[in-house]
Amino acid sequence: MGGKLVFGVTVGVAVAACVVATVVVGRRVKSRSKWKRVVGVLEELEATCDTPVRRLRQVVDAMAVEMHAGLASEGGSKLKMLLTYVDNLPNGSEKGTFYALDLGGTNFRVLRVHLGGQRSLTLKHDVERQPIPQNLMTGTREGLFDFIASSLKEFVEKTDDPDELAPRRKELGFTFSFPVKQTSASSGVLIKWTKGFSIEDMVGRDAAESLQQAIDKIGLDMRVSVLINDTVGTLAVGHYQDPDTVAAVIIGTGTNACYVERTDAIIKCQGLCTTSGSMVINMEWGNFWSSHLPRTTYDIDLDADSPNPSDQGFEKMISGMYLGDIVRRVILRISQESDVFGPASTRLSMPFKLRTPMMAAMHEDSSLELTEVARIFEDILEITDIPLKVRKLVVKICDIVTRRAARLAAAGIVGILKKIGRDGTSGIAGGRSRADVKLRRTVVAIEGGLYTSYTIFREYLHEALVEILGEDIAPHVILKPTEDGSGIGAALLAASYSSYDTDANLL
Ligand code: BGC
Repeated sequence: MGGKLVFGVTVGVAVAACVVATVVVGRRVKSRSKWKRVVGVLEELEATCDTPVRRLRQVVDAMAVEMHAGLASEGGSKLKMLLTYVDNLPNGSEKGTFYALDLGGTNFRVLRVHLGGQRSLTLKHDVERQPIPQNLMTGTREGLFDFIASSLKEFVEKTDDPDELAPRRKELGFTFSFPVKQTSASSGVLIKWTKGFSIEDMVGRDAAESLQQAIDKIGLDMRVSVLINDTVGTLAVGHYQDPDTVAAVIIGTGTNACYVERTDAIIKCQGLCTTSGSMVINMEWGNFWSSHLPRTTYDIDLDADSPNPSDQGFEKMISGMYLGDIVRRVILRISQESDVFGPASTRLSMPFKLRTPMMAAMHEDSSLELTEVARIFEDILEITDIPLKVRKLVVKICDIVTRRAARLAAAGIVGILKKIGRDGTSGIAGGRSRADVKLRRTVVAIEGGLYTSYTIFREYLHEALVEILGEDIAPHVILKPTEDGSGIGAALLAASYSSYDTDANLL
């Protein structure tokens, strides 16, 4: 009896031990297979985002081909290649005080720029930056422009110099960074909104006229003398500082490029748009599309959920408005397929909860324990205690998404250089070998937070430029950051196109 009891207890203990062991091993096997799934998601992302130089060259070619098509006819390409009617750029001789209003992202800026008449003189300027209240970004035309005009009036009253001899009407350059079909250098209608703006009664309306009406209504004596895209402002400042500047690129909340094109290459103009030899073309490259672009399911979902589906495809892979959200979508998918991020977080399901600056901060976290990643996860996504191994995974996701964006932007830039024969080959027709081509110093002015404030992004972009162009050509292409170019450029162009003084530099 006693022996049976001892035997029974021993068997019981052994069985219990086996059960515990099975559960532990089972859990380990399960968690290992879950981790495998996580790694699988990551590997799939890496493979679909891959941008070997061969693929980048295809993007370069596609960009150059689409540029031709967009210049040939209205609607000839997704690349709108918009005429700007800017056929002279500031040359440094401009004098006087001019205002600028820069609207195009989450903030708008008002500037007052004093031009001394000599390029060498530093531009004196005052700036005021204000966030645009969210409700105005999706409200009415009148609401937005009345708000801007009253901020402008306040700024003018604050900065006006009573001693300055300015009996004439004040002049303003208006930077409106959305696709606009220009009818002259000082007028143009909004084609569509981008970057989260959506004010229905503004589409198809003249942006300069809308601002002028609001300015007149508020009793400010000021004339909107030019209406420009932010890329054009950046080009104007770039050219003012360095006459070898032929193009400008913005990689910020949105992305776009403009460049100087020969009039005879602008077929859709039929020689009627300008008497000068060239004109600045606003490419609106954010809307560029090519089957060579490496697209993931995250991009497809982001596009479908956006207010402008099927539009701005290139922008949605590159710019600051979207990169953080692509990363959020990858993390969400992983959290749905595994428990590595702990219990489900509702914040993680919220579109645009993870902003690109936060993503960049995680990517650039150089601490051993990746404490910044942990902090952002806690503060922004309310996800706590993620192990180091998972934090490393997050950094890797940021890296994949950013690297693709930077490399595609580089391919876009080389596409422009190819179109204008500055990439060391001889345009899309090909023909001459690289050795035959005379290399000219080519400067591209560049602006936008992704480029200026996100070091890893900038390094990836430069690396890709060298890869695509080759070590011999790349040193001739200089990317030059301009500061406040989109705003100061508007003031410079207001001066070039001033009704009082027209000592400008025909292109
Ligand atoms: C707009 C462009 C602008 C770019 C950069 C894009 O969303 O369509 O006009 O230049 O953002 O601000």
